[in-house]
Amino acid sequence: MKIITVVGARPQFIKAAAVSGIIREKHQEILIHTGQHYDENMSEVFFQELDIPKPDYNLNIGSGNHGEQTGKMLIELEKIYIKEKPDLVLVYGDTNSTLAAALCASKLLIPVAHVEAGLRSFNMKMPEEQNRILTDHLSKFLFAPTETAVINLHKEGIIKGVFNIGDVMFDAVLKFKDLSRNKIDFLNKLGLSENEFILSTIHRAENTNYIDRLENIIGALSESNKKIVLPLHPRTKKYISEYGLKVGENVKIIEPVGYLEMVLLESMSQKIVTDSGGVQKEAFFLGKPCITMRDETEWVETVQNDWNMLTGTNKAKIIDGILNFAPSKEQEKIFGDGKAASKILEVIGQ
Ligand code: UD1
Ligand code: UDP
Repeated sequence: MKIITVVGARPQFIKAAAVSGIIREKHQEILIHTGQHYDENMSEVFFQELDIPKPDYNLNIGSGNHGEQTGKMLIELEKIYIKEKPDLVLVYGDTNSTLAAALCASKLLIPVAHVEAGLRSFNMKMPEEQNRILTDHLSKFLFAPTETAVINLHKEGIIKGVFNIGDVMFDAVLKFKDLSRNKIDFLNKLGLSENEFILSTIHRAENTNYIDRLENIIGALSESNKKIVLPLHPRTKKYISEYGLKVGENVKIIEPVGYLEMVLLESMSQKIVTDSGGVQKEAFFLGKPCITMRDETEWVETVQNDWNMLTGTNKAKIIDGILNFAPSKEQEKIFGDGKAASKILEVIGQ
C-alpha cells in the first residue's frame, strides 16, 4: 500500500518517530512536512535526534492566520496527492496541518487514517477542537488513544472504523527514554539535579493571546519561588515581550529543546506545570505530578486518576498546585501497552 503521512508541527514529528519505521516495514510511506513549524529547534532537531525519515516533500508553508495557513497547505497538498495517488493519507493530532491533510484527501476520495482521534475539550473556541472534530468526521480509520476518546466518537455517531489502540506518544517515550539519558550533560550545564526543579511549558493560543491569562501564568511561576525551567515556545516568547511581562529570577527561560532533552528534563523534574497536551501525557508516563494551566483537558482520565490538576489560569490555584499538589492514587492503565504503532499496521492491513 502507498501511504502518505502528513506532519507539520512539533508533536507530530514525535508521533511519526514512533510510527513511521513500523509502517515502512510493510508499506511504502511518503512523508510530507507542511512547514508549519520551521525553526531548527522546532523541526529539524527532531528529524536528526529521532531518526525520522527525511520528508519527501517540504511545503515550507510557515506561519500565518489560520485560513491563510490551512488554505496554502490545501493548495500544495492537492498537487502532491494527485501526482502520488496514495491509497491512504495518515494524519496525527489536531493542528492546522492535520485538518488540511485530511480535508484535501477527503475531497479527492482518498481514505484518511486519524491517529489521536476522538479527543474533545468541548471548547469550540480552540482551533484544535475545530480541527479534530472535522478531521474525525472525514476519517475512515479512527485510532483513539483512550476509552474516553472512543465514547466521544460514539456520541457523535461515529461507530465504524474506531479502534482504541492506546497512545503512540507512550510508544515514543518507551522507545526514547533510555537514549535520553545520554543527554545528561545538558542537564548538568543548566545546573539542574534530579527532583529539585519544576519543568514548565506554555504555548496554547488561549493562554498566550490574552494578556491577563499570560500575566497570571508568568506571575504564578515567578511568585511560587520554586526553581522552574521553562523551554519557551516562540509564540510565548513573542507575547511575553510584547506585553512587557516581568519574569522572576527563579524562572530559567531556555530555548525550545529537542525531544531527548525534553524527556530527560521531564524524568528528572519534581513536577510539571504545562498547558501542552503531549506534556500532560508524558508527565503521566514518567510518573510525575502534573499541573495543567487550562480550563479543561482532553486527557480527563489523568485528572480522574488524580495525577493531573486543572488550575486554569487562576494564579492562586497554579501556585497551590506547584507547592502542594501530590497524587493520592496509584496510576491506572489509561494509554494502552506502548504498542499502538503496531496496532495501526494490524488495522490498515499487513
Ligand atoms: C500549533 C498547533 C497546536 C500545537 C502546537 C504544537 C494549530 C492551530 N496549533 O500551535 O495545536 O499544540 O502547534 O507546538 O495548528 N513560530 C515560530 N517558529 C516556528 C513555529 C512557530 O516562530 O518554527 C511562531 C510564529 O510566530 C507563529 C507562532 O509561533 O505565528 C504560532 O505557530 P503556529 O504553528 O501557528 O501555532 P502553534 O502555537 O505552534
Ligand atoms: N517538546 C519538546 N521540546 C520542547 C517542548 C516540548 O520536545 O521544548 C515535546 C514534548 O515532549 C511533547 C511535544 O513536544 O512530546 C508536545 O508538543 P507541544 O507542547 O508543542 O504541543 P501539544 O502536545 O500541546 O500539541
